[in-house]
Amino acid sequence: MGGVHLESLSTLNYRNLAPDTLHFPAGVTGVYGENGAGKTNLLEAAYLALTGLTDVNRLEQLVQSGEKEAYVRADLQQGGSLSVQEVGLGRGRRQLKVDGVRVKTGDLPRGSAVWIRPEDSELVFGPPAGRRAYLDALLSRISARYGEQLARYERTVSQRNAALKGGEEWAMHVWDDSLLKLGGEIMLFRRRALTRLDELAGEANAALGSRKPLKLTLTESTTPEHYARDLSARRGEELARGATVTGPHRDDLTLTLGDFAASEYASRGEGRTVALALRRAELELLSEKFGEKPVLLIDDFSAELDPTRRAFLLDLAASVPQAIVTGTERAPGAVLTLRAHAGRFMPEDQVTDLEDFRPLEADPVEADRVEVDRVEAGA
Ligand SMILES: Nc1ncnc2c1ncn2[C@@H]1O[C@H](COP(=O)(O)OP(=O)(O)OP(=O)(O)O)[C@@H](O)[C@H]1O
Ligand SMILES: [Mg+2]
Repeated sequence: MGGVHLESLSTLNYRNLAPDTLHFPAGVTGVYGENGAGKTNLLEAAYLALTGLTDVNRLEQLVQSGEKEAYVRADLQQGGSLSVQEVGLGRGRRQLKVDGVRVKTGDLPRGSAVWIRPEDSELVFGPPAGRRAYLDALLSRISARYGEQLARYERTVSQRNAALKGGEEWAMHVWDDSLLKLGGEIMLFRRRALTRLDELAGEANAALGSRKPLKLTLTESTTPEHYARDLSARRGEELARGATVTGPHRDDLTLTLGDFAASEYASRGEGRTVALALRRAELELLSEKFGEKPVLLIDDFSAELDPTRRAFLLDLAASVPQAIVTGTERAPGAVLTLRAHAGRFMPEDQVTDLEDFRPLEADPVEADRVEVDRVEAGA
């Protein structure tokens, strides 16, 4: 199977990254350097440029302190054609362009990248909202329809909550109708997708050498069959609390390792293994859906890992057409190794000492293109 190929990544005013354009070969690119060098920021910028995905509540954090706007650009090969994806960021706003044309996030190709990082353990040990977000983000990527219906459902829940707080019992049948329709569709889609996701995560978990089987199940607050009944049964409670207490926004993706829920009983390392299995399942599911391997971004391959899981990550990186792997030490087997220092990245064979990382004199990111694509105020 072929893969998405990130040819180059340009950044301007992105966190601590110096403005630059970096070129990436096929195969594994290793990026290593000291803590705080900018390795995570580089992967975050690559993920943003490839997928348009980022935490929209923290956009201003992405802009270099002292600057108003930031910009990232990916030149990539996908589905046999070359395209340019650009993201401008500023003042709580984000603007996306593909080949110079403005698009919405949902319009970007959805299978371009998977990002694996140490924080993924939070998926396992954190609250249900994180696991729901993992599932919803993944399903929105394999089905645009799912993403749209989910957004409608979430709007309905917040409007319905406002009506509940206002004691508008008379209006409830209207909200209930859309809740039942949208929520029912979401539950059915999740059930269907989970069958395959469970298989893929189980296989990945076994490949990681885990002797305890991993099982993914939905713990649903209601079912499509009983949703209407549950809604009316809990009407009094909902009015008292001013909140919608049943529906897919209350479901959990339960991860069972061996006989126990991983969130409660797994060891740190077991949790990290489960999180890795979820990410590999994501990679496989996107590959199946789009017929192409996403670019694999692996942050901190050496963090928290024993030799088995470290080898698994490196094998995974070597198994896809293109991967970028960061760490505080060099990743073995890389085609290209970049040395990271103070927000800059240089092929290691060009670095003799850290003086080589002096800022460049000319702005290496094409100035006119950046000007055009900055976030426009009021856009
Ligand atoms: N908006 C911003 N403006 C300027 N600097 C920022 C901004 N956001 C983050 N930074 C800085 O970027 C630096 C690099 O962070 P990053 O997480 O990429 O390092 P890293 O190389 O991944 O380090 P580690 O090995 O510890 O994971 C940090 O020192 C951080 O303070
Ligand atoms: Mg880091």
